[in-house]
Amino acid sequence: MRSHLCGTIRDSQIGEEVSLCGWVHRRRDHGGVIFLDLRDYTGIVQVVYDPDAEASFLLANQVRNEFVIRVTGTVRPREQDAINPRMATGKLELLGQSLVLLNQSDTPPFQLDEYSTAGEDIRLRYRYLDLRRPEMQARLRLRAQIMYIIRQYLTERDFVDIETPILTKATPEGARDYLVPSRTYPGHFFALPQSPQIFKQLLMMSGFDRYYQLARCFRDEDLRADRQPEFTQIDLEMSFVEQQDVMTLAEGLIRHLWEEVIQVELGDIPVLSYQDVMTRYGSDRPDLRFALELVDLADLMQGVDFKVFSGPANDPGSRVAALRLPGGARLSRKNIDDYTSFVSIYGARGLAYIRVKDPTAGMAGIQSPILKFLPEESVKSLLARCDAQPDDIIFFGAGKARVVNDALGALRNKLAEDLNLYERDWAGCWVTDFPMFETGEDGSLSAAHHPFTQPAGSVADMEAAPEEVLSLSYDLVINGNELGGGSIRVHDSHYQQAIFRVLKLSDNESKVKFGFLLDALKYGAPPHGGIAMGLDRIVMLLSGATAIRDVIAFPKTQTATCPLTAAPSEIDPAQLQELGITLRKPI
Ligand code: AMO
Ligand code: AMP
Repeated sequence: MRSHLCGTIRDSQIGEEVSLCGWVHRRRDHGGVIFLDLRDYTGIVQVVYDPDAEASFLLANQVRNEFVIRVTGTVRPREQDAINPRMATGKLELLGQSLVLLNQSDTPPFQLDEYSTAGEDIRLRYRYLDLRRPEMQARLRLRAQIMYIIRQYLTERDFVDIETPILTKATPEGARDYLVPSRTYPGHFFALPQSPQIFKQLLMMSGFDRYYQLARCFRDEDLRADRQPEFTQIDLEMSFVEQQDVMTLAEGLIRHLWEEVIQVELGDIPVLSYQDVMTRYGSDRPDLRFALELVDLADLMQGVDFKVFSGPANDPGSRVAALRLPGGARLSRKNIDDYTSFVSIYGARGLAYIRVKDPTAGMAGIQSPILKFLPEESVKSLLARCDAQPDDIIFFGAGKARVVNDALGALRNKLAEDLNLYERDWAGCWVTDFPMFETGEDGSLSAAHHPFTQPAGSVADMEAAPEEVLSLSYDLVINGNELGGGSIRVHDSHYQQAIFRVLKLSDNESKVKFGFLLDALKYGAPPHGGIAMGLDRIVMLLSGATAIRDVIAFPKTQTATCPLTAAPSEIDPAQLQELGITLRKPI
């Protein structure tokens, strides 16, 4: 139907007759001459119809935005004053000879010919139109390019691409499962995989040595900008490896992607322990593009009268920490109030602060609502500990360690964003030495990563003090995003069973849930480990998008629905009956 593509017309075609197909991006009527911007996936070219070509001119007059047409015309240079330097084809145009209307279009619900301010709901409902926008085209094409590079990189390194089941049994990754009822076994359900974790381990036991998959995962969890209920992992597993081998491989892949796709050399990626990042940044995915760090003050505050500080300072599960913002003394009262409300989202009861004018002038050199509660000696030590400089502001968090970390960790990111504190475009780190278990509000233990992670040390160590045991696990963080996480796995059946016992799974429960894994571990399981990286998050970072929804063709909304297909939807009563399901009346 066409001889060329719209965006590829160049000087060398001047004088040639070409045929193009595409969408009418915009139509302008300039006193007797009609200009059509014709768009296909390669870009836009201007087509001019004048009344000499009478039939085509009349048709051109009738077409509207998003009509689909085929045009034939001669390429010619534009008049000097009509040149558009922002368009690849901006020096040229087509003098239209014929025009065939291939299809009409209703008026689109939002404009496609300029930056879309349409709300996300409407964009998702008409996603096929939203995806026509060059910005979205570029992102999805970039995604395809990234997937291609990944496959190449891993295939060249002997990784075998193997698909694992989607209809399967629950895989614990900390979220709720999406369930699929079985028709043949009424009352029985498949679970969609939260990850291919157990299958990739079984593949190591089968001797594949190196596996990878661009794997779709399903998790019913609270959604955010970087979380979708259905997402894609670059999932991989390796046999006969130690932690460092997996980290080297994964880091190599990430560095390669950054170089190939955006020509960026990722600098040093330091390896930091979980304990270290929590202490210094209040987060296990610290953004290291800027330098602000938390400073512990508990030892200085144990004896003060100010209960807000001395209480947590004397409680092992609590924390008193400071965050010094250089030059922050200029923040207004309103700014500080806003930051106080901001930290309250994370449960902080307040946000004490000290404005520093002259740190050498004692109490006279600083200003703060909490000074009246603190002895001069403590204030002096505090200023020294924080390395306070003129014009700084120092914020304080005191309370349960989790709350202080969440609040000051988030405040740290917020300050960087608001005040543009970034010193580098890219900064990554590995976080290692995570605790093996987490203690819930009710005191129960759960696996911090997943229960197949190898704890550091012996079974006896783990059983003696599970809360203190670290694991052979690692997360890769870039610009404050958790890009990937993995671990060395348990390959000893007895050790695996011991972990299930610590998690309070009875032998019978662990047999029902994971008996197949425990069996497989008895037949010569090699030492193995792996990692999974979030493909959507990687594409988001490499494309400059701010949400993974923008790099997924047909994503779900924040409330896990699809406005395009109206899924999830009600089910026909006959289908429910066939599945042996009776619905409770909606409450
Ligand atoms: P984990 O649960 O850490 O590990 O997931 C690995 C990576 O997947 C991405 N990710 C998500 N991306 C978008 N939406 C989500 N809801 C979502 N959840 C996770 C993140 C994360 O770092 N089986 C283990 C991996 C292993 O041990 O090898 C696992 O799934 O980028
Ligand atoms: P109050 O005595 O509650 O009026 O608090 C005095 C100052 O301490 C105020 O600036 C509060 O914002 C701050 N503050 C109160 N609770 C906390 C807390 N848990 N962490 C940090 N600052 C706090």
